[in-house]
Amino acid sequence: MRSKCLLLFLIIAFLVTSTNFDLCNATRGPHQHPEPKPTPKPNSSPNPSPNKSIFNVLEYGAKGNGASDDTKAFLDAWADTCKAAVSTMVVPSGYRFLIGPISFMGPCQPKIVFQLDGKIIAPTSPKAWGSGLLQWIEFKKLEGGIRIQGNGTIEGQGSAWWPNLKLNTYQDNAGKMPQTRPTALRFYGSYNVTVTGITIQNSPQFHLKFDNCQAVQVFNMTVSSPGDSPNTDGIHLQNSVDVSIHHTTLSCGDDCVSIQTGCSNVHVHNVDCGPGHGISIGSLGKGKTQACVSDITVRNVRMNNTLAGVRIKTWQGGSGSVRNIKFSNIQVSEVKTPIDIDQFYCDGPNHCKNESSALALSQISYEKIKGTYTVQPVYLACSDNFPCYNISLTDIELKPLQENLHIYDPYCWDAYGELHAPTIPPVDCLQSDNRKINERLLAQDSCK
Ligand SMILES: *[C@@H]1O[C@H](CO)[C@@H](O)[C@H](O)[C@H]1NC(C)=O
Ligand SMILES: *[C@@H]1O[C@H](CO)[C@@H](O)[C@H](O)[C@H]1NC(C)=O
Ligand SMILES: *[C@@H]1O[C@H](CO)[C@@H](O)[C@H](O)[C@H]1NC(C)=O
Ligand SMILES: *[C@@H]1O[C@H](CO)[C@@H](O)[C@H](O)[C@H]1NC(C)=O
Ligand SMILES: *[C@@H]1O[C@H](CO)[C@@H](O)[C@H](O)[C@H]1NC(C)=O
Ligand SMILES: *[C@@H]1O[C@H](CO)[C@@H](O)[C@H](O)[C@H]1NC(C)=O
Ligand SMILES: *[C@@H]1O[C@H](CO)[C@@H](O)[C@H](O)[C@H]1NC(C)=O
Ligand SMILES: *[C@@H]1O[C@H](CO)[C@@H](O)[C@H](O)[C@H]1NC(C)=O
Repeated sequence: MRSKCLLLFLIIAFLVTSTNFDLCNATRGPHQHPEPKPTPKPNSSPNPSPNKSIFNVLEYGAKGNGASDDTKAFLDAWADTCKAAVSTMVVPSGYRFLIGPISFMGPCQPKIVFQLDGKIIAPTSPKAWGSGLLQWIEFKKLEGGIRIQGNGTIEGQGSAWWPNLKLNTYQDNAGKMPQTRPTALRFYGSYNVTVTGITIQNSPQFHLKFDNCQAVQVFNMTVSSPGDSPNTDGIHLQNSVDVSIHHTTLSCGDDCVSIQTGCSNVHVHNVDCGPGHGISIGSLGKGKTQACVSDITVRNVRMNNTLAGVRIKTWQGGSGSVRNIKFSNIQVSEVKTPIDIDQFYCDGPNHCKNESSALALSQISYEKIKGTYTVQPVYLACSDNFPCYNISLTDIELKPLQENLHIYDPYCWDAYGELHAPTIPPVDCLQSDNRKINERLLAQDSCK
């Protein structure tokens, strides 16, 4: 092709001297039309001040009476909001909007605000959920920024799904809801996401989830559900980076914050947690998968009445690593196990076989962890072949809530690191770091 072109060019150049045009490329040469100007996007105003647009769901026929289905009105309002840059979709206060499973899809114009001042409630009829869905309200592929703000509430009506633990029955629908329980609010594949002001409560499963997101801010918001509601994580992060969660109150039946594989540069601070299972990294490596988590800080957190405090849990047989984790200034009160690493995590009724591989855990520091525990202050159970290394404990002061028979001493298994100040109680079981082991594990880290 190229050589034919060249040949043709040479012949033409020979015949038509001094005119310099290229037969192989129709877009160049003397007969070319000027580039058409790009047609302006519908709402990009020529003046520098942005075109602010407000789209209220009431204007799209939403009733907000808690009984009629307002899903279509929300979708219609979204369609217009999505088309206009710097636009706001308004869910006004004083109304209760019954909304079925819904996806607010991008791509959209940049800088969208979802102003939630009213209440959004989930349907409790089994019919609304078909054979089961992973999420109820979803924001997807919004790469130009999305901000959910306001003083409104997202009510998941989870009691329709949860077993009533005391009566061993389901409360409303006697087990008619599908097995798969939805996350209340999920963001997928979005950039520059802010969630602030709102309350998310009684989700059938996780309350707020971020998947494949970058630049996430969550602050001044509340998650609220009973301590015995099953798998109701407060905030669940997966494959998300550059995340900040702060000034937030999380009460739920599972992890207040759960940090899963693919997360890095996550900062959690000034958070109240409880009831709940604490703040967890993992579980990771289930089903022999690879998991990578790094650069996480958790500081200025109060925990009351939680299962664990700050915890890392991994399954045997996984690979990858958890690196550079800092827990500092954690105030615990009535926490079962405030400092917890479990490399033998095994959920559910099945026994887990011992496996030779594991994630490598390193550079994990605990500083200023203080308060009361109910079972065991420190539990560091690491893998035989992949011991935890470079663990540092500084300024630990943990006291039993009351002296009783079920209090255990600190426990370590294959845990290496340093004690930087006297700890209460003493953690004598931590072994001094061993450079040979560190170098071997670092060389095996598949996450780098
Ligand atoms: C034609 O020229 C343009 C601009 O120089 C270039 O981007 C394009 O790849 C060329 N096309 C061909 C078929 O060579
Ligand atoms: C601003 O947005 C509204 C609604 O989308 C539209 O009707 C109007 O023409 C826009 N104005 C400008 C100046 O682009
Ligand atoms: C995120 O969005 C906000 C408001 O829409 C904007 O002011 C800010 O510059 C954006 N940040 C990034 C990193 O794009
Ligand atoms: C919530 O915000 C709306 C509008 O911003 C306001 O009218 C309403 O009074 C607020 N409600 C509460 C309880 O703060
Ligand atoms: C926090 O959110 C509430 C609404 O839920 C609002 O009234 C208050 O002003 C917010 N505070 C800050 C510091 O943003
Ligand atoms: C912890 O929560 C319990 C109720 O579950 C409450 O009575 C207690 O005052 C709380 N303690 C702290 C320190 O907040
Ligand atoms: C698995 O390994 C742990 C720690 O080495 C050991 O205590 C336990 O007995 C083993 N379990 C089985 C089933 O081999
Ligand atoms: C241990 O971690 C610290 C940072 O927390 C780092 O500076 C140091 O190099 C690490 N040591 C080893 C032996 O990995």
